[in-house]
Amino acid sequence: GFSSSAAASAAIKNVTVIGGGLMGSGVAQVAAQAGQKVTLVDVNEKVLGKAKDSIAANLGRVAKKKFKDAPADGEKFVAGALANLSTNTDACEAAKSADLVLEAIVEDLKVKHKLFSSLDAVAPAHAIFASNTSSLSIEEISKAAPKRKENFGGLHFFNPVPVMKLLEVIRTPFTSDETYNAMMEWGKALGKVPITCRDTPGFVVNRLLVPYLAEAVRLVERGDASARDVDIAMKLGAGYPMGPFELADYVGLDTTKFILDGWAKKFPDQPLFKPIKLLNEKVAQGKFGVKTGEGFYNYK
Ligand code: CAA
Ligand code: NAD
Repeated sequence: GFSSSAAASAAIKNVTVIGGGLMGSGVAQVAAQAGQKVTLVDVNEKVLGKAKDSIAANLGRVAKKKFKDAPADGEKFVAGALANLSTNTDACEAAKSADLVLEAIVEDLKVKHKLFSSLDAVAPAHAIFASNTSSLSIEEISKAAPKRKENFGGLHFFNPVPVMKLLEVIRTPFTSDETYNAMMEWGKALGKVPITCRDTPGFVVNRLLVPYLAEAVRLVERGDASARDVDIAMKLGAGYPMGPFELADYVGLDTTKFILDGWAKKFPDQPLFKPIKLLNEKVAQGKFGVKTGEGFYNYK
């Protein structure tokens, strides 16, 4: 017979992804590619237009590789995935038919609370709510949706979403087994490798990665080596695809600082989360990394 987890996972067919930026558009792409019906939501209509363009371009890239010798099949694959995707600027309307609502909006607890509280009132009772937050507590976010304490968890993807295989599945103390199993199965259906995490700051990857990036900046700040040499060291000596400064520029120095500052406030005794002068200076100068054309490196 069917286990309850299989029944629950079979139920996730309609996904509403809220936030059409870098992460949301990536998640929408991989879900649509995997045959899910996806509605991508953003408050900004222009963002949705840009997201559709980048998803179409990325799907073309995937098709070119996957259907190297059968371009007609590649075109079918792209058209099929795009047909699974729609957009909306009204989150509440989009959530009405969702089995899963995944939030990937700004990293701001108040804004996330406002969104989830309005969705809690209108989404179907069975719908699972999940956040893609990098650094906030899932349980704290879930407080805005009291109706679905048990149907709430974290689904944390990595940038670039179509390439990075990992999915962190986060359980709060209230997440039901059924919800957890459905999230794990959904991740696998998307072609990701899900791991299980408790609801702790940064879960697994960011809890290790952010302090590592911070330590790299501190090392350079002390004058122990240059940023360029540290990057060479970690690529050639530890096999990382990017050095810590390339990666910090890629993730965004503003984002890195924002995560550290949030944790430092919450955990003032943790030396790994302490503010860093060199990082703060870069951010104060508007040097956020790749997205602004300059960070530790120049991209102009
Ligand atoms: N979308 C779709 N496909 C992409 C892509 C994108 N944005 N970027 C790269 N690709 C594809 C390419 O088409 C290419 O595919 P094939 O090899 O199959 O042809 C493949 O990915 C590799 O790309 P490139 O050859 O252009 O470049 P690369 O080999 O240098 O790899 C990289 C690029 C995958 C980004 C690699 O450098 C890498 O893994 N870097 C580390 C990324 C990382 O650590 N991400 C996590 C950041 S932390 C985070 O996300 C969590 C958080 O909460 C902040
Ligand atoms: P982004 O700025 O690229 O996109 C966020 C989008 O959300 C914007 O387009 C904005 O218009 C939209 N938005 C804001 N408030 C909204 C609302 N109330 N309703 C609907 N749309 C709204 O951000 P991003 O980098 O995609 O990050 C999104 C989330 O994912 C954050 O919580 C972040 O911490 C997390 N995350 C980011 C990364 C990364 O590397 N950038 C990796 C993993 C997780």
